[in-house]
Amino acid sequence: MERTTVISPADIKNQLAHCQAVARLLARQSPEPPLAFVDTYGCQQNEADSERIRGYLKQMGFAFTGDEEQAQIIVINTCAIREHAEQRVFGNVGALVHLKRRHPDTLICLCGCMVQRPEAAKKIRESYRHVDLVFGPHALWRFPEMVHQLLEARGRTFSVEDEAGSIAEGIPVVRQDRVRAWVSIMYGCNNFCAYCIVPYVRGRERSRRPEDILAEVEQLAAEGYKDITLLGQNVNSYGRDLPQPTDFAALLERVNAIPGDFLIRFMTSHPKDATPRLFETMARCEKVAPVLHLPFQAGNDRVLQVMNRRHTRAEYLEKIRQLKALIPHIVLTSDVIVGFPGETTREFEDTLRVLEEVRFDALFTFIFSPRPGTPAASMDDPMSREDKLANFNRLTALQDQISEEKHAAYVGQTLRCLVDGTSGDQRFPLTARTPGNRLVRAAGDPASVGQFRDVKITGANKWSLFGEIV
Ligand code: SAH
Ligand code: SF4
Ligand code: F3S
Repeated sequence: MERTTVISPADIKNQLAHCQAVARLLARQSPEPPLAFVDTYGCQQNEADSERIRGYLKQMGFAFTGDEEQAQIIVINTCAIREHAEQRVFGNVGALVHLKRRHPDTLICLCGCMVQRPEAAKKIRESYRHVDLVFGPHALWRFPEMVHQLLEARGRTFSVEDEAGSIAEGIPVVRQDRVRAWVSIMYGCNNFCAYCIVPYVRGRERSRRPEDILAEVEQLAAEGYKDITLLGQNVNSYGRDLPQPTDFAALLERVNAIPGDFLIRFMTSHPKDATPRLFETMARCEKVAPVLHLPFQAGNDRVLQVMNRRHTRAEYLEKIRQLKALIPHIVLTSDVIVGFPGETTREFEDTLRVLEEVRFDALFTFIFSPRPGTPAASMDDPMSREDKLANFNRLTALQDQISEEKHAAYVGQTLRCLVDGTSGDQRFPLTARTPGNRLVRAAGDPASVGQFRDVKITGANKWSLFGEIV
């Protein structure tokens, strides 16, 4: 097996020295703390990366602003999962050309999955000349060094080489939330689902050492975090690549043993690697939230095979059956792609049947988007956009109905919920989450934000539950 490159503590220390150097340079320019604007697209993995970018920026002396006009540095952390995600980035970055004219000294940085795609990097190089710094996920750990270089010698820097990927511990973090936290447990993906760009832009699977993960969770629990989500593209293959191999169930058990009143969630799980051992561990560990996000993508075996998902519909349904037997109140969510190349409407209807059988609490639905360089992008795709949309609408209509029915069944129950924020709504000024992570709009005292509270569910619609703190 390929050995994972581990970035040494000395290398990170060196990056922190670059942060100090940047701080000194900027302090010479103005006594006010410089401001940074960070914008994040894509999944929680990108959110977690942005927390590290903010951590580095803070070490460079930056404070944060939500206003691009005020910022000395703008960082846009991008996503490549669908074409639409990229179009949004290009639209917003294109608009920054005017800002750059007004403020030529503002550094504009683009990072994340999109720029790791050679075609996208080329487009930025040629047509978005106001962008100063471009770096992919592999180079994130060297962000301070790149900023330092740019400040010393103006020019443009691109750091988007293709790599298998590395692991860097000890990068500072500025978290966005006081109640919920993300903890990456592994990076990359080895699965190469035929439609998916992630393995190309995030490199191969590599796991953090359990000790490093446990130390991070311990600290979060000590700081009072109540909801901790373990992140990876496929957490179920955690630990296989470590010098002392372990597995995700063993990690869950160890995280569960950390003292404190907090919930553990994790995502994402690949059905082919979700085992009865995992389900039993979930059932046994009292801190592990009764919820599983288990993407099935398509309900037809031929389509699943061409997608390279390496499981059948029957295998998927069997896993769901095992899980429901162990945790009857489990909340289930999933991802589905409509309009994969060659999927007929009849094959698509197998997806509807999976919905009817499993009755997911919520579903994330996507229309297939060809990603250059993936096998699916060059497959024959005869179905029209209109027909795909019609199928997509059938799918969401069915799921809306199921979600509404499932939510209605909560009315009258009292659940221990995590109050995680406030909303502008006068009648329901709080937001809370059930143990299975369903959203509750709740009436009650704003002082309960950040606490677990019993919430009586008084109403529901297809999107959320309504209730009051008792
Ligand atoms: N690692 C996760 C998924 C990450 S991407 C997993 O395997 O479950 C999140 C979701 O985006 C995927 O589950 C899939 O449903 C969707 N997706 C990925 N590539 C896509 C594409 N090219 N077009 C449409 N949807 C896509
Ligand atoms: Fe993409 Fe498949 Fe990997 Fe998920 S498991 S990130 S869908 S290749
Ligand atoms: Fe997007 Fe990269 Fe996540 S492509 S979905 S930000 S891993």
